[in-house]
Amino acid sequence: MRIDILSAVPKLLESPFNDSILQRAKDKKIVDIHIHNIRDYSKNKQKSIDDYAFGGGAGMVLSIEPIDLCITKLKKQRDYDEIIFMTPDGETLSQSISNQLSTLNNIIIICGHYKGIDERIREHIITKEISIGDYVLSGGELAAAVLADSVIRLIPGVLNDETSALTDSFQDNLLAPPVYTRPADYKGWKVPDILTSGNLKAIDEWRMEKSIEKTKKRRPDLYKK
Ligand code: 6GU
Repeated sequence: MRIDILSAVPKLLESPFNDSILQRAKDKKIVDIHIHNIRDYSKNKQKSIDDYAFGGGAGMVLSIEPIDLCITKLKKQRDYDEIIFMTPDGETLSQSISNQLSTLNNIIIICGHYKGIDERIREHIITKEISIGDYVLSGGELAAAVLADSVIRLIPGVLNDETSALTDSFQDNLLAPPVYTRPADYKGWKVPDILTSGNLKAIDEWRMEKSIEKTKKRRPDLYKK
């Protein structure tokens, strides 16, 4: 999968992709991430990428031209399956959206900033709008990193058996059960006996029971699904 990310603050996107699982996915050539600075596509002397809103009002609006120039160039090089805009008024990200996106070949992610983005970009260029929850971030970069992380870890080959996404919370609308590691007794705080029993069938049943219990209690909305 190739992911192209357009941002006005590309520095914010550096570290999330240069460590741990995402770095390994890049090393294994399973994912190819390209970050583009929108400012590089500004055609005026000041290299500006935003302007005052027509009709007045506070806040600057991201201009259409630099974003269009960047995307036009990318589209000439390959076909894109989705052009996604990160915005708090988009569809709320879910495991099911991440699963769908993880099957695609090429996607573009545009990070919003300032007061917004010229609506014509949304009307004519963007194919999908995603939010990561009902709160406002200063920009779309952190949200784009969240989206990319949740998608990349689902691509076959990124995780090994030990970190398999199949046992993640949400993968079957259930929250993951509790886990423990050594020591089995720490200051008298003990690990449930069943987990040290060696009875794999009983352990599986216990985990399913705990998953259901936890989901019913914390996320009754999920459990109903
Ligand atoms: Cl995608 N962008 C911003 N700026 N804030 C958000 C968001 C996105 N998702 C939740 N809050």
